[in-house]
Amino acid sequence: MNTLISADDIQQRVRELAQEIRGDHPDGVHLVCVLKGATIFLADLVRAVPLPCTFDFLAVSSYAAGTTTTGEVRLLKDLDTALDGRHVVIVEDIVDTGLTLSYLQEILKARGPKALRTACLLSKPSRRKVDVPVEYVGFTIEDRFVVGYGLDYAGQYRNLPYVGYLDGE
Ligand code: IMP
Ligand code: MG
Repeated sequence: MNTLISADDIQQRVRELAQEIRGDHPDGVHLVCVLKGATIFLADLVRAVPLPCTFDFLAVSSYAAGTTTTGEVRLLKDLDTALDGRHVVIVEDIVDTGLTLSYLQEILKARGPKALRTACLLSKPSRRKVDVPVEYVGFTIEDRFVVGYGLDYAGQYRNLPYVGYLDGE
């Protein structure tokens, strides 16, 4: 495995993102974590955000077991609690084509949150198919399939503390 972003660099950047989120949400925030890739990011983010904070989970599927997208987004698990009147931040691992995120923003906006913003650890802008707003971006990376810090290849490598890429990728 090759390292793209070290564990220390991730931790430093997560603390910065937490401060940005605090600046925009003085009264507290409700985080919506996209399973499973964003769980590690969420766990570090909530401990760095010095705010009243709640969180919930949803799951979507847009990918088969490998690395290519089908372009089809499905909601596999919905949230447990309502969003109306809340200051919501979607927490996602990576924006690639943007299809997953634009679908999520659309269905969550319809639930009447007071504010809806998005935090992504990683962004691959060169892969974008739809223009989607992301207020908090950890790192912008080139077009390369990455794993670690929550991101997987066929379910593996989520537990790496850094972001890396496989040989040949
Ligand atoms: P999008 O809908 O194309 O933006 O894809 C977003 C989802 O694809 C992310 O939430 C990831 O689960 C997955 N994904 C995209 N690129 C990568 C990658 O480089 N490594 C692992 N998962 C990825
Ligand atoms: Mg994901």
